[in-house]
Amino acid sequence: MSVAVRYYSRSGNTKKLADAIAEVAGVEAKSTDAGLDGAVDTLFLGASVYAYGIDDHVKSFIAKLDSDQVGKIVVFSTSALAERAFPEVERAIKDSGISVDERNFYCRGSFLMLHKGRPNAEDLENAKTFAKEILA
Ligand SMILES: Cc1cc2nc3c(=O)[nH]c(=O)nc-3n(C[C@H](O)[C@H](O)[C@H](O)COP(=O)(O)O)c2cc1C
Repeated sequence: MSVAVRYYSRSGNTKKLADAIAEVAGVEAKSTDAGLDGAVDTLFLGASVYAYGIDDHVKSFIAKLDSDQVGKIVVFSTSALAERAFPEVERAIKDSGISVDERNFYCRGSFLMLHKGRPNAEDLENAKTFAKEILA
């Protein structure tokens, strides 16, 4: 099974999850700005919310994807307050016609004075366990 990990991260929180998932998958996590080279069975896609929603970088990455190129997308995300990130990423993917795994990984991400240190070591272990379950 071919696997890729792509993420968009302004302050590094989503990147931490991406690196943990990529370690389990045995691939290198790359920014969505790197695009996707070749077809993959499973694409782990990480994003977070910034006031008005997910970042335009993520939206344009998704818009360039083709359902022939990606078997399914597995979403991982962080946010400071509400669990808004997953539904927003999921909606953008569904608009693209690519299938989205119902399972997703979410945890809090630090923002200003909130959730210092998140994702923490426990979050990263949970992300690895999630990736193992997806890839099993
Ligand atoms: C400009 C900005 C706006 C944000 N707006 C929200 C928001 O509306 N709701 C929320 O839950 N978190 C919000 N956050 C918090 C981020 O979702 C959280 O810090 C996330 O972990 C950032 O991920 P990153 O480090 O990968 O960029 C915002 C963060 C920034 C920088």
